Amino acid sequence: MARTTIGIVLNGVTGRMGYRQHLVRSLLAIRDQGGLPLRDGTRLWPELILVGRNEAKLREIAERHGLTEWTTDLAAALARPDVQIYFDAQVTAQREKAIRLAIEAGKHIYTEKPTAEDLAGAVELARLADAAGIKHGVVQDKLFLPGLRKLDRLVKGGFFGRILSIRGEFGYWVFEGDWQPAQRPSWNYRSADGGGIVVDMFPHWHYVLEQIFGRVTAVTAHVSTHIPQRWDENGEPYEATADDAAYGIFELSGGVIAQINSSWTVRVYRDELVEFQVDGTEGSAVAGLRNCRVQHRSTTPKPVWNPDLPATEDFRSQWQVVPDNDEFDNGFKAQWELFLRHVVEDEPYTWDLWAGARGVQLAELGLRSAREGRRIEIPELDA
Ligand SMILES: NC(=O)c1ccc[n+]([C@@H]2O[C@H](COP(=O)([O-])OP(=O)(O)OC[C@H]3O[C@@H](n4cnc5c(N)ncnc54)[C@H](O)[C@@H]3O)[C@@H](O)[C@H]2O)c1
Repeated sequence: MARTTIGIVLNGVTGRMGYRQHLVRSLLAIRDQGGLPLRDGTRLWPELILVGRNEAKLREIAERHGLTEWTTDLAAALARPDVQIYFDAQVTAQREKAIRLAIEAGKHIYTEKPTAEDLAGAVELARLADAAGIKHGVVQDKLFLPGLRKLDRLVKGGFFGRILSIRGEFGYWVFEGDWQPAQRPSWNYRSADGGGIVVDMFPHWHYVLEQIFGRVTAVTAHVSTHIPQRWDENGEPYEATADDAAYGIFELSGGVIAQINSSWTVRVYRDELVEFQVDGTEGSAVAGLRNCRVQHRSTTPKPVWNPDLPATEDFRSQWQVVPDNDEFDNGFKAQWELFLRHVVEDEPYTWDLWAGARGVQLAELGLRSAREGRRIEIPELDA
């Protein structure tokens, strides 16, 4: 079958997200399936150029996967005329300047979130990208997960009636790194290196709330650094300067209230690492990464508060499983495919650098809310 190639520079492929989700589970998976089928019957074949700081690591990854192109020279990679897309999964603090270079080089941009360390930087990237006339996209992977796709389907199908509230619980215990190694990179726990759970997770909550439920109009947040000392990848102790838990209230257009706890200092007694309960006048749902359960008003039990008696009902058994009714591919891959179609076929694409900037805005205003101890309204961003 005829195929067209598209050159993609991948920066940050030695990292957790860059390697596993973007290289292996998305782009190599697209190559494994013979390329991305296009409308005209041809296939789009990603040609990958790995970029990073450590040549030996890049070579090892390239050889492991039969790739032939890698370099530590980002500018040289961006200067190549056969490169159309720049992708960034570096640590957050390195992102903005690399994306600026790629925009200057006239490449389309696809990037991990958060798009920049502060709102001014994120907005500037979106403006520069628009002015350069390039296409741009930001990873919003949670939207492509089966649990949230089913939740979105319930909202669009009118299941909830009037939606009243959303309660989200995200988190798990991240080991301190002394007697058991930490399962997340240490930069996440240092503010100066772009760490912090607000900066990491509020951009995710922003697109989940905005895309499924409505515009986020105000935020009230409390943040904590519950664990002040951790141990890094070399076993050295360091001061954890970034927030490791955030307790947020998000007001949405239409009066919906979302409360989301985000924490790396909780132990999991849930079915999934993140779960959202949505309550509406007609029914409720609990959605995680993969699963979604519902309870309609017609099957809602009538519990009566009586602490003198043991619980008389098995509440969890009173919910119904929402069927998949679809095949769900890896969420990162699904979004990569949409972005590639946006670039080569001009398919519409809403998850752009402006959406990314709104996520950074929520993180920035969430942190300000916590610092100043007050509720903060969220202004609309001007293009
Ligand atoms: N979409 C998601 O669900 C999701 C999940 C986790 C992380 N992320 C985002 O992905 C990005 C990478 O996170 P990760 O967990 O893969 O991090 P990681 O530490 O595993 O990887 C970071 C990558 O950046 C590179 N890098 C470049 N300059 C660096 C520097 N000065 N110091 C350290 N590393 C440097 C590293 O070599 C590595 O390839 C972050 O921006 C993070 O916010 C997104």
